[in-house]
Amino acid sequence: MFQYNEKVMDHFANPRNVGEIVNADGVGEVGNPVCGDMMTFYIKVKDGKLDDVKFKTFGCGAAIAVSSMVSEMAKGKTLEQAMQISNKDVAKQLGGLPENKLHCSNLGADALHKAIENYRQQHKEI
Ligand code: FES
Repeated sequence: MFQYNEKVMDHFANPRNVGEIVNADGVGEVGNPVCGDMMTFYIKVKDGKLDDVKFKTFGCGAAIAVSSMVSEMAKGKTLEQAMQISNKDVAKQLGGLPENKLHCSNLGADALHKAIENYRQQHKEI
């Protein structure tokens, strides 16, 4: 048995920034080999900053809460700053996740970073 804390439950029940960005500047998709869950992040970049961040997650409650938290943490950040967000930071911001759900937090920042890499590949930033 495990229990999610209130913050995790809040982000799970009312996830922020759910959806898809049409004409996104970058898209990143990752799957969790442990459970088969999928997470996709969409970003819009303006003046070197993440102007908008949205996600679609097909996964467990922890994965949804993690996506929601990552999107909030990333919005408004520069690409550099957003690349610094680690999966550990996200779990910490959520006030911790149950031990057996820690693997779920490995998707969030990875998907965001992939979206940023995807953007950089297309725009070849120096
Ligand atoms: Fe699949 Fe949590 S059980 S991401």
